[in-house]
Amino acid sequence: MTYIPGRGSHRRKERDKTPESRRDEEPRKEYIPANDIDILKLKNAHEELADTHRTLRESQAEMIFRFAIAAEYKDGDTGSHIMRISDYSTEMGNALGLSHHDLECLRYASPMHDIGKLGIPDKILQKPGKLDDSEWEVMKQHTIIGFNIFKGSHSPLLKAAAEIALTHHEKFDGSGYPDGLKAEHIPIFGRIVALVDVFDAVISKRCYKTASTFEEGMKCIEELSNSHLDPDLVKVFMKLEGKMFKIYSANKSIQQYVKDEEIQ
Ligand SMILES: [Fe+2]
Ligand SMILES: [Fe+2]
Repeated sequence: MTYIPGRGSHRRKERDKTPESRRDEEPRKEYIPANDIDILKLKNAHEELADTHRTLRESQAEMIFRFAIAAEYKDGDTGSHIMRISDYSTEMGNALGLSHHDLECLRYASPMHDIGKLGIPDKILQKPGKLDDSEWEVMKQHTIIGFNIFKGSHSPLLKAAAEIALTHHEKFDGSGYPDGLKAEHIPIFGRIVALVDVFDAVISKRCYKTASTFEEGMKCIEELSNSHLDPDLVKVFMKLEGKMFKIYSANKSIQQYVKDEEIQ
């Protein structure tokens, strides 16, 4: 090996330097303060981005609601049912302390709970009387059709939509469909939507029944505690009576609804 004078000591000196002493040796960069114009440009760009984000969210919300209305349309509903379902579910999720992310998924996915009705024949959907056994079996398929529409997506929102479509007719005592899931085996989103969907169905006019009053709806929910509905969720729902009444009485247009979409 050839000896090169001074090289070893140079390497040693380099090795012994601390990150701070190295930084001290670097030529200092001159600090140029941003002037007012730069700050204004940045502020405008930020506002434009926030505007674009808001518009995108509103378009997404509107697309979801209009898509959900397509499924409810044949049932004679023009959108008020699904908007209330979304509002009731969000209030429930809020009271239960769901994360902002889960709350947002619940808010956007719950209106699509009956999307599978798109695959159910009109003569069954619009039958004024009671369904016979074979018609009822076809009707129950809307849960699986809805699940199939959303399954396989990587989007958390569409995964929630698949879960809700599949489980919103499961009952707490295991007597629901399509899988007869019991109690906590039914995902929380499914249990929430099951409750608010029953409530809204009771207080709404349908082709096979007249509308009950808000008070009758509340009473019905209490009666279904433990059998059809999760008793803990029923208690939460009862405590939210005032907020639920506001949603029930609001009768929002889709435009109002979409503007309200931002979850705080
Ligand atoms: Fe349903
Ligand atoms: Fe529904």
